[in-house]
Amino acid sequence: MHPFPDHKILFSAQQIHENIARIAKQIETDYLGQNLILICITNGSIPFVADLMRKISLPLRLDSMRINSGYHNATKPTTEPLIVDAFKIDVQGQHILLVDDILDTGNTLHKVAQYIQEKQPASLKTCVLLDKKERRQAPIEADYACFSIPDKFVVGFGLDYQEHYRNLPYIAVLT
Ligand code: IMP
Ligand code: MG
Repeated sequence: MHPFPDHKILFSAQQIHENIARIAKQIETDYLGQNLILICITNGSIPFVADLMRKISLPLRLDSMRINSGYHNATKPTTEPLIVDAFKIDVQGQHILLVDDILDTGNTLHKVAQYIQEKQPASLKTCVLLDKKERRQAPIEADYACFSIPDKFVVGFGLDYQEHYRNLPYIAVLT
C-alpha cells in the first residue's frame, strides 16, 4: 500500500524553500538590532519554523505553544481554540514573532495574540506559511506569509489531516 492516499502537489519543496528564504530576508531587515523571540505553535509549524529560523541571521530565541484548535479529527473546527501548553520565556518588553503553519479563520492566532498582548511585549507580529484569506472570521492578518491559498484543505510540510501527512516535504491538496 502507498503510505499516502491520493493527493495533488500544490507547492513543491523547492517553491517552499524559496518563499521561506524570501520571508527570512525580510524579517532580518525588519528586526535588525532588536531582541527577537519566535513563538511557534506546535505541531503544525515545526518544519516551517525549523527552516525559517535557520535562514534568519540574527540573534534570536525560540519558544513554543501547544494549542488545541478544536478540530477533533475533522476538517472544520467544532470548538474554541484552547491553550494547552504556554511558552516559558518572559515576553514583556520583547519583540515577538508568532509563527504558525496556516492562518485560516484566524480564531487560533487571534486568541493567542490576545494572550501574548496581555503580557506587554514591545511588539507582536505574525508569520505563517499559508494564508487562506477568504476564510477569515477573526480580526487578524499575517504580517509575513509565504503563500496565499484558496479555500482548500491542504496537508504536508507540517499540516495534517487526522495527524497524518505532516512529514510530506511539499504541500498538497487531498483528492
Ligand atoms: P484557524 O483558527 O481557523 O485560523 O485555524 C488554524 C489551525 O487550523 C491551523 O494551525 C491548522 O492546524 C488548522 N488548519 C486550518 N486549515 C487547515 C488546512 O487546510 N489543513 C490542515 N490544517 C488546517
Ligand atoms: Mg495546527
